[in-house]
Amino acid sequence: MEGLKGLLRHVPAYVLLQRVVGADKLRYRCIDEVKAGETVLDIGCGPAYYFPRLPQPLKYHGFDTDAPYIDWATQHFGGENASFHCGIFDEAAARSLPQIDVVLLLGLLHHLSDEQCTDLLNLAASVLSPGGRVVSVDTCFEPSQGRISRWMSENDRGEYVRDPAGFEKLALQSFGQVEGEVINDVTHIPASYWMMRMTAPSSL
Ligand SMILES: C[S@@+](CC[C@H](N)C(=O)[O-])C[C@H]1O[C@@H](n2cnc3c(N)ncnc32)[C@H](O)[C@@H]1O
Repeated sequence: MEGLKGLLRHVPAYVLLQRVVGADKLRYRCIDEVKAGETVLDIGCGPAYYFPRLPQPLKYHGFDTDAPYIDWATQHFGGENASFHCGIFDEAAARSLPQIDVVLLLGLLHHLSDEQCTDLLNLAASVLSPGGRVVSVDTCFEPSQGRISRWMSENDRGEYVRDPAGFEKLALQSFGQVEGEVINDVTHIPASYWMMRMTAPSSL
């Protein structure tokens, strides 16, 4: 397992594995939430290999703490309307941005502790335009999953894989409206994910 986790730090290997297991289709499901002409913030964007599937025109801001991922994304997709930044998405970063229509948190929350999730979701809520939304998707534990799917969840790189109620509770601290669904039919190997659409920031 450690070998696989190390390999995933190699960007082409990460992108290839995402496609092989069908995790790209999971991302495309989330990206369907974005409309042409919108401004998108992608926190924990990784190499953003799904960027070409975003509707155009669009303004895009990607943040990730991993320099090789950001370098790869910049090289492949960077341009006048797409910028990639290496670092934690913090208050200073939030203040540097225009109002955001869609915040993407694709595969991020299950890497963060409850406290880190709360801080990040509050920050995401603070950058939204009126009517803006936050879309997240994460590996989860859910009652209908079989043994292979459960094994996948137990062995995910993220240390904070939760059940849907756990993710929802965190989201409801920052948003008045949270809709969620289990997605377990998109990847080529059995795996369960929890996708959330968060609107109506509580701070407004
Ligand atoms: C599982 S990867 C998902 C990457 C990409 N969104 C995708 O779906 O392929 C999670 C990413 O979040 C990044 N990350 C973790 N904590 C972060 C933080 N506080 N701020 C920005 N990025 C973070 C990691 O470096 C990693 O690339």
